Amino acid sequence: MIKAIRGTRDLLPPDTDLWNFVEERVRSVFQRYNFHEIRTPVFEATELFARGVGEDTDIVSKEMFTWEDKARAQSEKAQSLTLRPENTAGVVRSYIEHDLGRSGQLQKLYYVGPQFRRERPQKGRYRQFFQIGAEVIGPPSAGSELPIRDAEVIEMLTALLDSVGLKGWTLHLNSVGCANDRAAYNAALREALAGVKDKMCADCQRRAETNPLRVLDCKVPEDQPIIDALPKISQYLDEPCRLHFADVKATLDTMGIAYQVNERMVRGLDYYTRTTFEFTHGDLGAQSAVLGGGRYDGLSESLGGPKAPGIGFAIGEDRMIMALQAQQAAATVAVDAYIAPLGTGMNRHALKLARELRDAGLIIDVGDESFRLKKGFEAAEKMNARYVVIVGENEMKADAFAVKDIKKGEQVTVPRLDLAAALHKQ
Ligand code: HAM
Repeated sequence: MIKAIRGTRDLLPPDTDLWNFVEERVRSVFQRYNFHEIRTPVFEATELFARGVGEDTDIVSKEMFTWEDKARAQSEKAQSLTLRPENTAGVVRSYIEHDLGRSGQLQKLYYVGPQFRRERPQKGRYRQFFQIGAEVIGPPSAGSELPIRDAEVIEMLTALLDSVGLKGWTLHLNSVGCANDRAAYNAALREALAGVKDKMCADCQRRAETNPLRVLDCKVPEDQPIIDALPKISQYLDEPCRLHFADVKATLDTMGIAYQVNERMVRGLDYYTRTTFEFTHGDLGAQSAVLGGGRYDGLSESLGGPKAPGIGFAIGEDRMIMALQAQQAAATVAVDAYIAPLGTGMNRHALKLARELRDAGLIIDVGDESFRLKKGFEAAEKMNARYVVIVGENEMKADAFAVKDIKKGEQVTVPRLDLAAALHKQ
């Protein structure tokens, strides 16, 4: 038997109803905040991620699905391609390629789509997973660097989570400063690590040399006390970065959005500057981050583009769905009515009625005239329909239909013209 590849999975009904519910809700929130959709390719040049996300990150050094694309002509070189492990680098590439900054306005973009990382599959961690993300990017003259953008993006996230009904999340906030601060902090970490790195895991020993900041991502339990005792990033922020962070926090305070400052949260991608954040959820186990994001003021320039500060996030949609299912806020889409044709020649009338009711926005399923009424009722109950509408000869003559409320067990007769309104009522 041929099976789905480890770390990938089929999304099946009824779960897909919840996926669609989430996607509809988030699209409507994005619209209210004046964000517009961007769709970038699922694979890109490997170099984009190596330069954008960073060579020393777990994502680039261990987790990418990369292959050599065959050269099409002798004059061409084979090109290294990679399935996108995340979408920010692709969005910024697209921003540069299409000169989206030329309008002088902020670009407020969102995306929904699959990402690929060769991680060890476990609960909440897949090799193909889905992200719902957004990026605000533009020239500095459009205010892309200002703290209000950070606060608005974070506030929008709370609205997104509210709109899908996710409760019980915690916002973790940090500032990783700008390139200068990071260089000073990296130097301090390198010095502090020199004395202790021999007691740490192999990854930390390597990172202590190459990119000490990444040591803070380490999850090995024995290394945690050592990492907790390392210097803190807040001691290395310069004045503009300190003020920027203070402004973001003060704006969140004014809006009543609670957060925890978590100085170890430097995020696993190299492009971050200043504000970083994650939302965690208690029901997710070890993979508790339901989303992550932050500012990336130098990313465009590191990819050869113009100065274009930006901030964004990506929600792990698989994890968001898991958390929703765990809290049973699952908005299962119930069928409004099951139409049961009764007797020969009734199918066509039943379908016509179904069409009218679907046009009126109702969710309708239809049986077959060969079914006995009992079988129709059983089918309706199984699909969680609220009503059964019977379409028989008498009903057609009267142009009024027997409507049975499945839960209450009550049956009434409703004229065709009133039927849609009656079924819309709870
Ligand atoms: P990230 O933290 O790498 O950030 O991923 C964001 C979210 O994607 C995570 O919090 C998690 O919920 C989900 N996720 C990541 N890996 C997996 C996986 N293997 N299986 C299931 N879910 C996963 C980024 O990707 C950045 N591009 C976010 C961003 C946008 N920063 C600025 N703009």
